[in-house]
Amino acid sequence: MQEQDPIDYGPLAGLIGTWKGNKGKDKSPEADGSTELNDYFETLVFIEAGETSNAEEQTLSAVQYTQLVQRSSTGKIIHREVGYWLWEQGTENVINSLTIPRGLSVLAGGKAITKRSTVFEVEARLNCPNWPITESAFLQTKASTKSLQKKMTLSGDKLQYSQHMILDIYGNEFNHNDHHRLMREVLITDNLS
Ligand code: HEM
Repeated sequence: MQEQDPIDYGPLAGLIGTWKGNKGKDKSPEADGSTELNDYFETLVFIEAGETSNAEEQTLSAVQYTQLVQRSSTGKIIHREVGYWLWEQGTENVINSLTIPRGLSVLAGGKAITKRSTVFEVEARLNCPNWPITESAFLQTKASTKSLQKKMTLSGDKLQYSQHMILDIYGNEFNHNDHHRLMREVLITDNLS
């Protein structure tokens, strides 16, 4: 049988693994128009998801992720997200497609630039034809996400992100944001032989 070439994950390669942190900071809206500040802990897992080609022109490498965020004081889950990061081979272009279980999906686009660390920056906007946010009818009228900007910096076993969402909720514009610094979980396997 012919051996397949290994997949080139480019800037995504360093993401693969399990990441944990317990110093997350979230700013969310409260019904009375005030701000809720949440400290959180998080597990973020990236796994390889292969490569695909589109129209025999574009080759995308993919990693798939799941994010679980829990309030520090109670352990209650306050955010779940599943998605992919895609890298267009031969370019600096990346895509982050994600879904959160509120009736909301996002296709955010941008670049990953590697110097000393790798910086991923993507954004999406409601009604933007290229990088849109899509929402349920309920969210469109009651809690609409107008924009998302996400920056993630990968340096070896450290992964830091900050994201800003503008929400249209309770008759006001609200700046919902999250910041966290995670460490890669290193598996120690004792070699007893
Ligand atoms: C670490 C990431 C995130 C955390 C910790 C987080 C946390 C929260 C919390 C605590 C609320 C308050 C409402 C509630 O108690 O359920 C909320 C509301 C909301 N979030 Fe997030 N969120 C995150 C990411 C996102 C992202 C990426 C989006 C959109 C792309 C988003 C969209 C919304 C929307 C639309 C609401 C309004 C719903 C409401 O307040 O009734 N969130 N989030």
